[in-house]
Amino acid sequence: MRFDVLTLFPDAFAGPLDVSIIKRARQDNLIDVQVHDIRDHATGRHRPVDDYPFGGGQGMVMRVDVLDAALHHVRSLDEAAGIVVYLTPQGQRLDDAIVRELATHPRLILVCGRYEGVDERFIEHRVDRQVSIGDYILTGGELPAMVLIDAVARHVPDVLGDEASPEDESFADGLLEHAQYTRPAEYNGWDVPDVLLGGDHASIERWRREQRVARTAARRPDLLPALRDGEKAALQKIGVPGARLRGVDYPADLPAVLALWRAELGSVDLGRSDAPAELAKLIERNPGLFLVVEVAHEVVAAVMAGFDGRRGYVYHLAVAPQHRRKGIARALMAELEHRLRARGCLRLNLFVRAGPESAAASAFYEAHGWTRIDAQGFAKALDR
Ligand code: ADE
Repeated sequence: MRFDVLTLFPDAFAGPLDVSIIKRARQDNLIDVQVHDIRDHATGRHRPVDDYPFGGGQGMVMRVDVLDAALHHVRSLDEAAGIVVYLTPQGQRLDDAIVRELATHPRLILVCGRYEGVDERFIEHRVDRQVSIGDYILTGGELPAMVLIDAVARHVPDVLGDEASPEDESFADGLLEHAQYTRPAEYNGWDVPDVLLGGDHASIERWRREQRVARTAARRPDLLPALRDGEKAALQKIGVPGARLRGVDYPADLPAVLALWRAELGSVDLGRSDAPAELAKLIERNPGLFLVVEVAHEVVAAVMAGFDGRRGYVYHLAVAPQHRRKGIARALMAELEHRLRARGCLRLNLFVRAGPESAAASAFYEAHGWTRIDAQGFAKALDR
């Protein structure tokens, strides 16, 4: 695949495209990157590449005649016509789908703007695509062009070699990557999750998939429309104006959550989750499975769950007394079950601890599809 770059600053491209995978791809002729100085095509004594905007205003505008001459020359260097891509903050925002589409072209001619912009006639008559790398303004299109080349080149066959495939990565299936660990297995008291050391590949795959869904739900819920819809549906069921169901904000929510739990469970020992450090570990291991509901910026309900790849466990569902009987517990549990199901969890357990609210809690679970398995335990099967 061939990339031609039109720029006023060709020197900017030395370096980033001369290291690592992109360097090897260039050496192996898998990609060809040619950088061209627009200024070479300026004419006249001072060879101006820009001029004042008609109608007045700040800054300078790149000239249509110079740009067009540069493009005409560059086009003639290869028989593949390619498409002309102008890097501009006004363009379509670059994402994985656009990268993949651009990688299907044999040739991309990238135009880097500078100064206040480019004469609109060049854009109108010569540019096929306008691409932005994000909603912020850079001083020119050079860095965006390099970002685009790097991202697109990775999709050119053989560029990544045998061992890696863009299909295995974040965004290929709309999910973020799972966490990675390497030796040493123990460092500074920081352990690698046991499942990765056990050699059971099915469990490892399940754990990784779970991690990817959980991370995406926690960090980029916008990439998970199914979960978002679930969350929205759960929210609509809460009969409290202004109630917001969200993931826990740790440690900011901690005092409020512990106070809720202690009130609900009386003097009952909260087990491991009573110690902030232990709670932090549980949250880290189960991202996206600790939910709270806030009303007027105050946490009024909380629930936490874990999933070990086989079973999900629900801990400490609690709702502040003044917000009971409004559907908050139901919405929290519905969302939690939705998230657990999305991780592949089909069986749930919980224990109702003896305490001031245990009779009410048991009645709630029985009314919501849970089956009592012994004096304190309940189980629920999640459908697929
Ligand atoms: N030129 C200046 N800012 C840019 C951006 N965010 N994306 C693409 N080109 C740009």
